[in-house]
Amino acid sequence: MIDKKIAELINEQVNKELYSAYLYLDFANYFEEQNLDGFANWYIIQAEEEMDHAMKMRQYLIDNEVPVKLDAIAKPNKKFKTYMDVLKAGYEHEQYVTSLINTIYDAAFDAREYKTMQFLDWFVKEQVEEEKNAKDMIEKMKIFGGDAKGLYNLNNEMKARTKE
Ligand code: FEO
Repeated sequence: MIDKKIAELINEQVNKELYSAYLYLDFANYFEEQNLDGFANWYIIQAEEEMDHAMKMRQYLIDNEVPVKLDAIAKPNKKFKTYMDVLKAGYEHEQYVTSLINTIYDAAFDAREYKTMQFLDWFVKEQVEEEKNAKDMIEKMKIFGGDAKGLYNLNNEMKARTKE
């Protein structure tokens, strides 16, 4: 078993990770409409990774005999004017997710629940990567996204992303 409050937070995080998948799928849909299939691919892979995060959290609850409760997933309601708006929204979202992971970690630390702290270590490390990837997209768009050829090459780079 695990601490009740921590179990609730992890259960909420299952929902948040599923929302992240939904959000990135929405980003992918936006880029499909813009005929940028590489960017769409990048966010589809991202959505799949978020599903994996949700499943890791779910499995941890099950392994600790906590019943998992699924809640409604919020509707993504972002409206974008530019490609950069999407990339920035992704970066802000990852910063938010990092804060959520930190909140669960704080609770595990306060409860001296070492196994949950160890479980969360993977997510702490993952969030460094998630924020870096999102920030890199912004920087690349700043440098290369200003003209058609640069955007074409960037789109091709994004198309090459595969699931790890
Ligand atoms: Fe599940 Fe993008 O963090």
